[in-house]
Amino acid sequence: MKALLSTCLLFGLFSPGSPIQCEVDHSIRTLSKRSTYLKTCDPEFDACRVLVIEATWSGKTVRTVKKSCTKSESCVPGPVFMHLDNGLRETGYSTCCPTDGCNSEVPALPTWNETQNGFWCPSCSVKYPEPCKREIIRCQGSANKCFFRVIGPIIHMGCATESFCNNSVQTGITITDSLGVLLSSQHVECVPAHRG
Ligand SMILES: *[C@@H]1O[C@H](CO)[C@@H](O)[C@H](O)[C@H]1NC(C)=O
Ligand SMILES: *[C@@H]1O[C@H](CO)[C@@H](O)[C@H](O)[C@H]1NC(C)=O
Repeated sequence: MKALLSTCLLFGLFSPGSPIQCEVDHSIRTLSKRSTYLKTCDPEFDACRVLVIEATWSGKTVRTVKKSCTKSESCVPGPVFMHLDNGLRETGYSTCCPTDGCNSEVPALPTWNETQNGFWCPSCSVKYPEPCKREIIRCQGSANKCFFRVIGPIIHMGCATESFCNNSVQTGITITDSLGVLLSSQHVECVPAHRG
């Protein structure tokens, strides 16, 4: 038994195994072109992820899906929400899984819970150098973080869930007020939301 166990351990340690393969894609529903393909992930990755985000503003919506290789330790699965005082909001869902091609299915979007939850955050959506006026918004549903996001000249502040904070850092998707989708690195910080 002991010998078998050490054999397994040795095998686990010294066999590199085959690298995981994941679907890799970014698509915006308003674009007709999709380019999903199965990619062999770099060795540091051990899981596949898929993040779907739907942004709503002024009665219009845009949906983006991002599929990628990831590290299971940095996965924060579950619903993703954020909202701003100007009415822009994002609802999403993030999943991670450990087998080849397992991220082919796009998860369903959770329903937005509009109930105020007793937290509030300063909010704005501006283009630098326009000042962020930090209007107070009442957070909804499970949003219990205040977030601050900078992408190029765009500054967003508002209420978000922890999963929004963690996932947006990793995926670099930003949806602007006019529902344009930007893909680039961004700076996101979150602090606990204020009570009262
Ligand atoms: C909606 O959010 C409120 C405030 O966080 C919570 O009390 C309530 O249970 C939520 N409702 C559902 C259906 O999740
Ligand atoms: C999200 O990221 C923060 C900061 O990196 C970390 O402290 C927190 O544990 C993460 N949350 C989850 C659910 O992994």
